[in-house]
Amino acid sequence: MATDVHGPVTLQKGATAQQTTATGRPHPTTRASAVRVQGLTRSFDGRAVIDDLQLDVRPGEFVALLGRSGCGKSTLLRILAGLDRDIEGTVLVPRRKAVAFQAPRLMPWKKVWRNVLLGLPGKPERAAAEQALTEVGLTHRANAWPKTLSGGEAQRASLARALVREPDLLLLDEPFGALDALTRIKAQRLVGELWRRRGCAVLLVTHDVEEAVLLADRVLVMDGGVIAYETQVDLDRPRDIADPRFAELRAGLLERLGVDTVA
Ligand SMILES: Nc1ncnc2c1ncn2[C@@H]1O[C@H](COP(=O)(O)OP(=O)(O)OP(=O)(O)O)[C@@H](O)[C@H]1O
Ligand SMILES: [Mg+2]
Repeated sequence: MATDVHGPVTLQKGATAQQTTATGRPHPTTRASAVRVQGLTRSFDGRAVIDDLQLDVRPGEFVALLGRSGCGKSTLLRILAGLDRDIEGTVLVPRRKAVAFQAPRLMPWKKVWRNVLLGLPGKPERAAAEQALTEVGLTHRANAWPKTLSGGEAQRASLARALVREPDLLLLDEPFGALDALTRIKAQRLVGELWRRRGCAVLLVTHDVEEAVLLADRVLVMDGGVIAYETQVDLDRPRDIADPRFAELRAGLLERLGVDTVA
């Protein structure tokens, strides 16, 4: 199992810096979890946006995270990614993790393949970038400048940049939010395929309930600074949105989000 070979990152209560185990051996709890969050609190200006939150994600599990705008989803994702360490509580995540945001955040002065390798330690080979670009169907754009990419292509380049890190945990913050409907469907399928092929745990933040039920093993709803609701999606893949059980799950989640489904 992937998490057996990578040590965890631990943030203890009140800590502001990342610590890893001295031996580099995995913490016992991470063998059963790709993510283990206990008693997590994050405040801004004295207001707790995340308030004693608990979360476990199994290795290889695909989890979708829903919640109204401003409820703290991106804050949680940034903490899991190690980008925000001003927290209280315990956060255990695999050392190998990668994040992709709604905006692809490509450096305009670097060609696509160089963007894919950006920030990797050592001197990574171009071949590594090309392999990741092939996985997302973008081999032919390796030499392109980011500004010449379409929105969907840029988002796939951003995914390639995440994949080249060979993550055990892939964190996605509304990665399809800015795409048109057709490109979005293709990008959703691609993420589903990559997840099956790679076997990494995924935490996908989305506003789209249908997307969550299409892709995830489990859907969470964040509210009041905690995971206020969760539901297992026990439907075979590929999923059929016309399946009555699909519609039932979607309706239940919309209700939890305070959206009235009856016109
Ligand atoms: N650096 C910061 N300084 C002050 N407040 C912040 C900061 N980052 C986030 N917040 C506040 O924390 C709350 C949660 O923000 P967050 O971005 O996590 O929400 P979200 O659930 O991702 O929303 P959305 O769905 O709109 O992306 C918001 O009220 C936001 O204004
Ligand atoms: Mg957000």
